[in-house]
Amino acid sequence: QSNAPTHPLIASIDIGTTSARTILFDEHGTEIAKNQIEYSTTASEAPADSKNKEQFRRRSSLMRHNEPIFSAEGIAISITDDVMIENNAASVGPTLRYPKPGWVECMPVHILANAVQCLAASLITLRKINQNPALKIKYKVKAIGIANMRETTIVWSRKTGKPLSNGITWTDTRTAEIVQHLERMTDDEKKAELNQKTGLPLSTYFSAAKLRWLLDNDDTIREEYEKGEGNLMFGTVDTWLIYNMTKEKSFVSDVTNASRTYFMDLETKDYDDELLEFWDIDPTRICLPKIVSSSEFYGSFATPNLSNLGFHNKITPEAYEILKTLTGTPICGCLGDQSASLVGQLAFRPGSAKCTYGTGCFLLYNTGIRKLISQHGALSTIGYWFPTLSEDDGKPHYALEGSIAVAGSIIQWLRDNLKLIEQSKDVGPLASSVHDSGGVVFIPAFSGLYAPYWNSGARGTIFGMTQYTSASHIARAALEGVCFQVRSILKAMADDAGTSADFLEEALNTQNESTPLATLAVDGGMSKADEVLQIQADILGPCVTVKRAQISECTALGAAIAAGLSFKDENERVWKDFNDVFEKIDAANGNNSFKAKLPDAERRRNWRRWERAIDRAKDWLD
Ligand code: G3P
Repeated sequence: QSNAPTHPLIASIDIGTTSARTILFDEHGTEIAKNQIEYSTTASEAPADSKNKEQFRRRSSLMRHNEPIFSAEGIAISITDDVMIENNAASVGPTLRYPKPGWVECMPVHILANAVQCLAASLITLRKINQNPALKIKYKVKAIGIANMRETTIVWSRKTGKPLSNGITWTDTRTAEIVQHLERMTDDEKKAELNQKTGLPLSTYFSAAKLRWLLDNDDTIREEYEKGEGNLMFGTVDTWLIYNMTKEKSFVSDVTNASRTYFMDLETKDYDDELLEFWDIDPTRICLPKIVSSSEFYGSFATPNLSNLGFHNKITPEAYEILKTLTGTPICGCLGDQSASLVGQLAFRPGSAKCTYGTGCFLLYNTGIRKLISQHGALSTIGYWFPTLSEDDGKPHYALEGSIAVAGSIIQWLRDNLKLIEQSKDVGPLASSVHDSGGVVFIPAFSGLYAPYWNSGARGTIFGMTQYTSASHIARAALEGVCFQVRSILKAMADDAGTSADFLEEALNTQNESTPLATLAVDGGMSKADEVLQIQADILGPCVTVKRAQISECTALGAAIAAGLSFKDENERVWKDFNDVFEKIDAANGNNSFKAKLPDAERRRNWRRWERAIDRAKDWLD
């Protein structure tokens, strides 16, 4: 077996907001090994009554106050029916913190440790697979790709490598005042100019406001900035991971991540002086990562020195040992997670779209090599940039994006804060145990409202409760609250398509569909529940079919594709181009379709109710 031919794999590291995972893919998009760590979201108090106490005891033995746990899916992988191998990684400690209402922080070193832990666990699994005498080949990881939550802002010291504060995650709204002040101070013409350049509205969502807040409020960071000695380093999660996982300490940000900072011009794909000035950032006082494409060699893998970063526990010697086998492997693909799932859904043709229901929910619509600025509240962003491909395929591709801050996180909130369900998967059955929400409308605006409303001052609001209202109605209304926002985004994009008919029409025709976005390709954790997708289909109405992707891990697959397209080895190329990807990966189109069943009149009445509720939830904060 030692002479067995080697078969290349791509390791994909996917760092979401509430979980980390590593998946080793082959060229068919098959998951050969997979490990996941899910972070819990609350430090719960034990409930008073005995039944709930028992449930609490069982769960808290796994969750222990904000500690990550393994999700059920992370426990085992199967490569064939004969080989089932358990993973053996352990949690690394709390990763998320909620110190004040509206504040959501992450621990950058724990993010890194989670990535290391998942990667090591997958390699241990792979070693066991390779030891199987029945296997006629030997798998080897040849390249590494990264997908990550975007906008989350990390500042660290060049001298020590250590973060100078906790990371501020994308959902954090502490910057509401900064943003509201800038909104007041900026006239409409300037706002339009900024929007044209960045594709983004002014919002707490993007990195710029978070960095501004750190410079204004964190003494250490401010002092370093004032000294201006080049010690301050700024990055999003991609930059932090690549910096710490490469031998060269590469300080880069892929263009899809950089396009979410509010510092990058979408045309030049570079930092823009006017934008930096708008946020009062002096680039001679803080190092900004070099903006690079989504698919190129960034550096060679080296195991991060976690103890130098003050992290001393939980990673086993076995894990460190196995990670050595990866030393020198190229890290050569990186995408913000929503771009990654666009790629993983193989939505390469202009006019293709996908909707991922993760922690938040993100609908991306590929507009090809032309930038389209939405007139109806969608964002413009970079979809991907694969420069190793020829002609148009190798040029940066743009996307319209509808972002919803709260999707899967509402289920965690129902589970951890309200304790309405024991496990996330219980939400579907609870919500579908009632025929409708009983008149309840739930606006899950925990982090303000994103697309297409863009209202930083909105907060979560529940309307229409009566004595009749039950836990099932609340759960159903929460799910509907996510799905109504998807409908408003689709509507905004359809309006944009109408106003830019020239090239979007053409794009849509290539899909041979007469209605914009007639098929909504969905993926992500929440989309696994049939009940959620039926609610979504009912809210969208008969013109749109909701189709679940066959490969559920589209985000991780997208990062693997990005790495695979730039990886070159004399004898081995994982994928040559998009055609090759299409041929080998039989994936994107889902086999599960959902169509509206709800009578039209009921759907229209519900929509009107939703719109009324949205108006009332806006501007709750002064
Ligand atoms: O923009 C935020 C997004 O990148 C987070 O994605 O997967 O954590 O919901 P996710």
